Amino acid sequence: MNGTMLRDMAVKARENAYAPYSGFKVGAALLGSSGKVYTGCNIENSSYGLTICAERVAVVKAVSEGEREFTALALAGSGAGFIYPCGACLQVLAEFAPRLKIEIVEASGDYKITSVKELLPRAFVLKQREEADGN
Ligand code: THU
Repeated sequence: MNGTMLRDMAVKARENAYAPYSGFKVGAALLGSSGKVYTGCNIENSSYGLTICAERVAVVKAVSEGEREFTALALAGSGAGFIYPCGACLQVLAEFAPRLKIEIVEASGDYKITSVKELLPRAFVLKQREEADGN
């Protein structure tokens, strides 16, 4: 699995987005350490606050299938321009992969590389867990 394949999977996953309220479709593809890819798309709700972002859909699919370590995330928004994961998604990604590589692809196929660490340098970490981990 290379970066191009992962980005293509994010673009493909975007087709399943359910976004009748915003009209803004997002696709994500999360590469697990096992080599397996978990895709996600945003799923909106008529009660707007219940909307789930593409990134979190991918994470919950992966963790619920037993995968907890990740090496890269590809993200595809709608239209021109790069989108960045929202703060809530960054916190959820940081739980499992604080140094995760993120590849963001835009309409022309152009892409940017960033990371969870760069976008959320100080994620919240519960004190007890920090001590348990020896961090
Ligand atoms: N959205 C995502 O799925 N991921 C992001 O990184 C940013 C925003 C979704 C949520 C909502 O369905 C739509 O984009 C517009 O905010």
